[in-house]
Amino acid sequence: MSVLITGGTVVTHAGRWRADVLVREGTVVGLAAPGAHEWAADRTIDATGRYLLPGGVDVHTHMELPMGPTVSADDFETGTRAAAWGGTTTIVDFAAQARGGSLVEGLERRLEQAVGRCAVDYGLHMSVADVNDGSLDEMAAIVESGVTTFKVFMAYPGVVFSDDGQIFRVMQTAAELGAMVMVHAENGLVIDVLRRQAVERGETDPIVHTLTRPPLTEAEATHRAVVLAELSGCPLYVVHMSAMQAVEEVAAARRRAVDVFGETCPQYLFLDWTHLASSEGAKYVASTPLRNREEGHQEALWTALAGGDLQVVSTDHCPFCMGDHPTLGPQKSLGSHDFTAIPNGVPGVEERMRLLFSAAVAEGRMSLERMVEVCCADPAKIFGLYPRKGTIAVGSDADIVIWDPDAEDVITVDTNHMNVDYTAYEGREVTGRIETVLLRGEPIVADGAYVGRPGDGRFLPRGRNQLLR
Ligand code: URP
Ligand code: ZN
Ligand code: ZN
Repeated sequence: MSVLITGGTVVTHAGRWRADVLVREGTVVGLAAPGAHEWAADRTIDATGRYLLPGGVDVHTHMELPMGPTVSADDFETGTRAAAWGGTTTIVDFAAQARGGSLVEGLERRLEQAVGRCAVDYGLHMSVADVNDGSLDEMAAIVESGVTTFKVFMAYPGVVFSDDGQIFRVMQTAAELGAMVMVHAENGLVIDVLRRQAVERGETDPIVHTLTRPPLTEAEATHRAVVLAELSGCPLYVVHMSAMQAVEEVAAARRRAVDVFGETCPQYLFLDWTHLASSEGAKYVASTPLRNREEGHQEALWTALAGGDLQVVSTDHCPFCMGDHPTLGPQKSLGSHDFTAIPNGVPGVEERMRLLFSAAVAEGRMSLERMVEVCCADPAKIFGLYPRKGTIAVGSDADIVIWDPDAEDVITVDTNHMNVDYTAYEGREVTGRIETVLLRGEPIVADGAYVGRPGDGRFLPRGRNQLLR
């Protein structure tokens, strides 16, 4: 099977140029100026006036994630289908070790949930919730399976929290294995004190979620994680960053040539804590929390992204319904009278590429090439998937998104596809419309319809970080 895409402008992190693209058996086999070749193919797609971007690489999603008494609302089928609609053709989700359980069992369980159900290609990270001699010994087998990143939590004491010694041991082992550690960097012990004190004072509204997780709890934990990484020689990736003081810790480490990488998410770039103060504040409860725009966090994130201090925009997609979920029952409303019971998470896997494309082309927040770098190329490099994923080049998987760059659109739950009853970006106007999405050369979204099938997506064994200094 071959496909020829003609007349479009290919945009990668390295630049843009008018090129026809030839795809055979799912792989890009040729790029040439229109008219400068004599290629023929089984099927031709006319992309005149359109941009061709690499498929999005979202390295932080949580499909069907158990959280307290509930589970995130998208399963691998619905969540990856929504990803496809939004121009994302690769996700990296998480396998989790149960407390007292084994890493290998956690990975096997997660693969059972994902295999045969995904609309796009997928990899997995391994969350380590119980650091002990046994779990450390298992890390080698996990890496052998193509899962080369281990996530630890400095937050959520009593649930998935690890102390500094445990985190350090995971880092030492990961360093030996050529793997990387990802960290949820918030000082969970301090946050727990602040939350308890707030609840004792009768402060239970969603806005208190952010007031009890002040920026310095993120910055302090980020600093500590960076120092532990530096001491152990392990590359570190800090997830879902929202506080400018924390970003400064990553930037300072990078200036010292330490292998530290930082990620932020659309919710921190486009929303702020006023959303938590609204009557529907539960929609926006996530950790790290939305911050006070007037303190400068949002501008600092945009500057860090455009300038290179942050490398990735992923979603931390973790949807919970405001009303009752059809099969799972109450979700966000579990915390109607107490913000500490609101399941943490914001949906976004469908909106990320559209929001960032628009921010680049219409708002001038960064170049379109940089948008491709932070949404496709650098996530693929940092998570060992490049150049198979994250670019359009000879030899790459033909994961290609065809955009009409001039179309105007409005984000609304009415036309979204995630299995959740709201979007955090309701009514937001965006420039650019996704017309066609190819996964390894096969259309999965075309002519306004999803034309793929569950199981189109394949598991991606990953290599090591390709951006180490
Ligand atoms: O609030 C969040 N971020 N929910 C998902 C789980 C996590 O901590 O990443
Ligand atoms: Zn987290
Ligand atoms: Zn997360």
